[in-house]
Amino acid sequence: MRLQGRNALVTGAGAGIGKAVAQRFAFEGARVVVSDIQAAAGEAVVESIGSAGGVAHFIHADVSRESDVQHLVGAAVQMLGGLHIAVNNAGIELVKPMVELTEAEWDRIMAVNVKGVFFGCKYAAPAIEASGGGTILNMASAAGLIGQGLLSAYCATKGAVIAFTRALAQEYRGRGLRFNALCPMLVDTELGDRFVESYEYTYGVPISELLHARQGRMITADEVASNALFLVSDESSFVNGHALVLDDGGISG
Ligand SMILES: NC(=O)c1ccc[n+]([C@@H]2O[C@H](COP(=O)([O-])OP(=O)(O)OC[C@H]3O[C@@H](n4cnc5c(N)ncnc54)[C@H](O)[C@@H]3O)[C@@H](O)[C@H]2O)c1
Repeated sequence: MRLQGRNALVTGAGAGIGKAVAQRFAFEGARVVVSDIQAAAGEAVVESIGSAGGVAHFIHADVSRESDVQHLVGAAVQMLGGLHIAVNNAGIELVKPMVELTEAEWDRIMAVNVKGVFFGCKYAAPAIEASGGGTILNMASAAGLIGQGLLSAYCATKGAVIAFTRALAQEYRGRGLRFNALCPMLVDTELGDRFVESYEYTYGVPISELLHARQGRMITADEVASNALFLVSDESSFVNGHALVLDDGGISG
């Protein structure tokens, strides 16, 4: 088991990528706090982990609220007896032409995707240091590295997450705490489905054309979880400040 004896916290773990990450970490021996704004979904993930023989707890938190995240990390440390891994995964999409974006929409996506990651790092970093060290993984996106029409605000948030992660890797270097980011292309989740629907509606072309040009097929949440596992395990011990792109060479090549 690759995470035996580790305590992990995953935000946005009630669905999609966060759910797959929480389940995989538990399968690999970690004790996991599943956090989400959707209590029923989060509790169901906890139950699935318990039925599979793992250990998990649910804590409700909206990552855009500092007091929620402060409480989340404090409660996770208490429940698990320390913290070694935090995955700041919760995020939302916003699929619209730039000129139609409202200030409120811009502020909301920044609050969840950027401020949420800031709060997650702000409270998890000292907790992990106090527990003897570990890793923080921030969920960015390939959209933080390349342009994608209709996703300008989302791209801006993910670019910010990548830059923030790299800066923290420098700030914490030599202190037993690594920071990395994951940058998947389109993943087969509810968020991915919503993007596909809006993209096809707006451009009037099937998503298969974009997939063919950029990544071949949708990535599965389990594939993302496998890479998350690598980045939080000791196997990636010298990987710090890295933004790992999952694109099958589509944009890296
Ligand atoms: N799906 C993709 O194609 C894709 C690609 C690259 C990166 N990502 C990123 O991966 C992360 C997860 O995406 P997903 O596809 O699993 O999304 P999803 O919509 O399928 O699931 C996201 C989960 O986050 C929760 N959530 C939303 N806002 C929250 C908040 N303010 N506080 C706490 N929880 C909140 C939701 O309730 C949901 O359970 C996001 O950061 C997303 O930007 C997704």
